Amino acid sequence: MCGIVGYVGEQHPIKILLDGLKCLEYRGYDSSGIVLQNNDECQIIKSVGKISNLEEKINNSKLIESNMGLAHTRWATHGEANEVNAHPHKVGKVTLVHNGIIENAKELKDRLISDGVEFVSETDTEVACALISYYYDKENDIKKAIEKACNEIVGSYAFGILVEGIDKIYAIRKDSPLILGIGEGEYFIASDISAIINYTNQYILLDVNELVEMDSSGYSITTNGKEIKKEVLTATIDASSKEKNGYPHFMLKEIMEEPIVLENTLKPILSDISSLPDLKQYEEIHIIGCGSAYYAGMIGKSLFEENGVRAIAEVASEYRYKKVLYDRKTLVILISQSGETADTIAAMRKAIDNNIDTLAIVNVKTSTIARESKNQIFIEAGPEIAVATTKAYILQVAILSLLAYSCGESDSKVIDDFNSIPSLLREVLDRKDEYLKIAKDIYKNDNIFFIGRKLDYSICMEGSLKLKEVSYIHSEAYQAGELKHGTISLIEEGTPVFGIITEDDIREKTISNVEEVKSRGAKVIVVTNSDIDGYEYVVKVKKVSKYVQSLLVVPVLQLIAYEVAKLRGCDIDKPRNLAKSVTVE
Ligand code: AGP
Ligand code: GLU
Repeated sequence: MCGIVGYVGEQHPIKILLDGLKCLEYRGYDSSGIVLQNNDECQIIKSVGKISNLEEKINNSKLIESNMGLAHTRWATHGEANEVNAHPHKVGKVTLVHNGIIENAKELKDRLISDGVEFVSETDTEVACALISYYYDKENDIKKAIEKACNEIVGSYAFGILVEGIDKIYAIRKDSPLILGIGEGEYFIASDISAIINYTNQYILLDVNELVEMDSSGYSITTNGKEIKKEVLTATIDASSKEKNGYPHFMLKEIMEEPIVLENTLKPILSDISSLPDLKQYEEIHIIGCGSAYYAGMIGKSLFEENGVRAIAEVASEYRYKKVLYDRKTLVILISQSGETADTIAAMRKAIDNNIDTLAIVNVKTSTIARESKNQIFIEAGPEIAVATTKAYILQVAILSLLAYSCGESDSKVIDDFNSIPSLLREVLDRKDEYLKIAKDIYKNDNIFFIGRKLDYSICMEGSLKLKEVSYIHSEAYQAGELKHGTISLIEEGTPVFGIITEDDIREKTISNVEEVKSRGAKVIVVTNSDIDGYEYVVKVKKVSKYVQSLLVVPVLQLIAYEVAKLRGCDIDKPRNLAKSVTVE
C-alpha cells in the first residue's frame, strides 16, 4: 500500500531516497516524506500529494550533512492525507516510517496518553513510534525496545526506524513486504526491489519479525535476540522495464506488451500441456482474488464448470471470513499480480490452516503469496507499474483458461487458438483509432453501463472496473438479463451501454437486452465476434475458442478506458485514491 526506502552508506542519501520513492509511488501516493540523520541531528521534510511536491520542498530546503535516511510514500488508512499525518513520524529520539495497519492502535494510544505521551497526528503509525520510544527511554536498548513494542502490536507492519545519536538504520516487518538491499559499502531497505534496482540487485527477503540493524560497515539480522544468516538473492528485473520506453503512460505501454508477454508465458506451457498441475484429482476448485484478479477468476470458474469441474470464484475479503465447507478434496487457487494483497494472503492462509492445497497464479516471484503457497504458476508479465492492471489480468485469464482446458477433452483447435492469440491481439491493438472515436463520444458521460451474460458478464466486470479506475466515470456491469429488474430505470437518452456478445448460445438473448436499452435511448457499443449491426458502434473481433475469446475482447475495453481517461485529463498511471498493491485490509 505504501512505499518505504532507506539508505545508509558513503553517499548523501537524498537522491537515492527520492529515486526510490518515485519507483514506489504507484504503491500509494497521497503524501510522502523523508528523514535525514547525522548522529543526533535529524531533518524531516514532508508534503501532501505526489512525490514531485516533496521533491520541490527538498530542492528549496538546506539539507543537513548526512549518510543515512528513510523515505515513505503513504496510502492513508488512519487519518486524512495531510502533512501532519504523513510519514516519517518522530516521538522522542525515535523516527519511523510504516507500511501496514496497527489494529490495536487506539488501545495502545490510550495507554501511552495515560503515561503522559502527547500525539500530534491521527495515525496508527505515530502510536507504534511512541511505543518504541517509550520502551527505548526505559531500556536504552533500541533493539529490545523494538522487539518489545512489536510483541504488543496487533496488525501488519514494515518499519524503518532511526534513533537520534545512533548512526544505524533498523527495520522489521510482519505481513507488509520489506527487503534488505546489499551494495558495495552501502545498504538499503525497500518495499520492493524496483526502488533500489538502479543501485543493487543483491537483496535479502526479510521474514516475520527479523530485525535488521545496518550501517555503512555492514548489517546484522536477529530474531528473538539471536543473529541469523539469510540467503542473498539476485534480482532479475530489467531496470528499463520501469521506464515508459516512449509511451505517454505505463498503462498504454503495458497494454501494448500483452501480445509479447502472452507469448512468453504461454509458449513453454503450450509446448507441454502436461507440465500443468493435475487438477483432475480435485473435487472442487475455489478461485480467490480481489478486483481484477477476482474478475479473472470468474472467467476461470465458468471455464472449469464447462469442463464438469465444480468451481467457485470468490472475493478474497469475503472468503477469508466466511464459513467455507472443505468437505470435498479441494484446491484453492489464489490470483494475485503483486502477491502482497492482504485479503488474498489471508484467504491463502485460511486454506493452508485447513490443510487445503493452494496454487498461486502470481507475477511477483518473491512475494508473500509466491513464497507461502504450496504450488505456483508464474505469469511472465514483467513489472506492471500502472495501478490499473492490464497485461497481468490478461495473463491471469490465460493461465486459468489453460488449467480449465487441461481438465477437459484435448482439442487441437483450442491449442491452435491459444497459439494464435498473440498475433490476433496485435491486430486488435492496432485498431486504436476505432477505440478513440468511441472514447471521444462517451468521455463526457457521467454513467456508463456494461451488459453481458455468462463469460461476457465476467468481461463486463473487468471492462467496467478499468473505466471507473482510470476515468472516474461511474460505471456498472450487469448480467444482461438483470438490467430490466431495476437498473434499466437509469437508462436515459444517450446513456452509453456496452453490450458484450461473444457466446453463441445466449447471443440472441443478449441482443434482446441490448434492444431494450436502445429503445430507451441508450447509445449502444457492441463488442462481439459475430456479424451484428444496427447500433451506434460495433467492434468486431475474430471468433476463437471460448477459452481465449476474452483475451481479444478485454483489451478493446482497456484501450477505450485509457482513451476516455486521457480525454478527461486523469492521472492514468496513478489514479486518485488507489494503490497498486493493497497490502492492508
Ligand atoms: C486492478 O486494475 C486494480 N488495481 C485492483 O483491482 C487489483 O486487481 C487488485 O487490487 C488485486 O491486486 P493483485 O492482483 O496484486 O492481488
Ligand atoms: N496505517 C498507516 C497510515 O495510515 C500507514 C499506511 C500505509 O501503509 O501507507 O499512515
